[in-house]
Amino acid sequence: MAASSVFVEACLGRSVDRLPVWLMRQAGRYLPEYRELRGRFPFLTLCKTPSLAAEVTLQPVERFRMDAAILFSDILLILEAMGVELAFGEKGGPRLGSGEPGEERVRLLSVPDPADDMGYVLDAIRQIKGSLPDGCALIGFSGAPFTLATYLIEGGTSRDFYATKAFMYRQPSAFHGVMEKLVDALEPFLKAQIAAGVDAVQLFDTWAMILSPADYGKFVLPHMQRLVAGLKNQGAPVLHFSLGTSTLFKEMVRIGADVLSLDWKIDMGEARALLGPTQAVQGNLDPFALFQDTAGLEASVRGILEKGSRWPGYIFNLGHGVHPKTPVEKVRRLVEVVHGFPVGGADQGAQG
Ligand code: CP3
Repeated sequence: MAASSVFVEACLGRSVDRLPVWLMRQAGRYLPEYRELRGRFPFLTLCKTPSLAAEVTLQPVERFRMDAAILFSDILLILEAMGVELAFGEKGGPRLGSGEPGEERVRLLSVPDPADDMGYVLDAIRQIKGSLPDGCALIGFSGAPFTLATYLIEGGTSRDFYATKAFMYRQPSAFHGVMEKLVDALEPFLKAQIAAGVDAVQLFDTWAMILSPADYGKFVLPHMQRLVAGLKNQGAPVLHFSLGTSTLFKEMVRIGADVLSLDWKIDMGEARALLGPTQAVQGNLDPFALFQDTAGLEASVRGILEKGSRWPGYIFNLGHGVHPKTPVEKVRRLVEVVHGFPVGGADQGAQG
């Protein structure tokens, strides 16, 4: 069991003898072995074929020995299981529905049964667990309700989120209804992932950044609190991901997640000081810092490690996903630098 992995220990705020590292989108187009498989299968086929999803999940951890693997899948698949058409074109990102107004798509939503409707995810988890390197944890995930609501209401990605915000402000109780239905679907799905073997779950709230603190507190926070409370005592820490949200820290600490993600726009030392010694965090290298020369990259990584490892509860990561053009050798060097970094900063160990 990976219960004693350095990754899980750090999520729980415990002292570790070396710092854990994993990268968002660590399985993906920057890896030649991913591009090779992807050349043969559409993205959704990779996600829905457990043996292929397992193979892609394991590619980066076999190559670089990260401390955690993240299940290869996508946050939007649950919307398909809830009754909405989903397509990934070669250009232009994902598309939900077939052009009907968002309010109609919202009416379509049903709560899926994880085993019947998303069994391919659970099968992939079981296969991955059988082949993970020793000490490597497996992270399951879902979208957070707000980010899923934006895709659902917009029908895809958006520049200004007009449709989402118009819906939220004009029909607040219907908007809360959508958020509730999403939580009703996400909680059993994440519990099923944990039962199938994931060691932690991450909730991706990519678009939380578009909200004011007051609106986040009103329209999002209560739903996040219900979801995270439902996941307590399941034996898997909960990580929260967002970016561009250091102005929402006061609200986000109230979610109750074990780990909060930080993007590169806030200084790691300042973020840890603001959040305090008991809030575990992950982050926060700019994904484009991997395009520097090796010495520059090493300096950027060490700068963050020194500040991040001041207290226990620190996981090295990027502030967002690995860019598809990232040189593979820079990812290797990044992992080596984190693993070679001596733990035992000023206060580490104090909480034994
Ligand atoms: O991190 C991982 O390696 C695990 C797998 C994973 C993917 N998507 C695979 C993927 C995870 C955790 C996600 C989450 C996800 N998906 C988010 C939240 C995180 C974030 O990036 O902000 C969002 C918003 C999505 C929705 C989504 N999926 C978009 C907007 C796109 C198209 C843009 C893009 O990067 O290509 C995807 C496609 C997608 N999801 C790819 C991968 C590897 C690219 C597919 C390909 O090979 O063409």
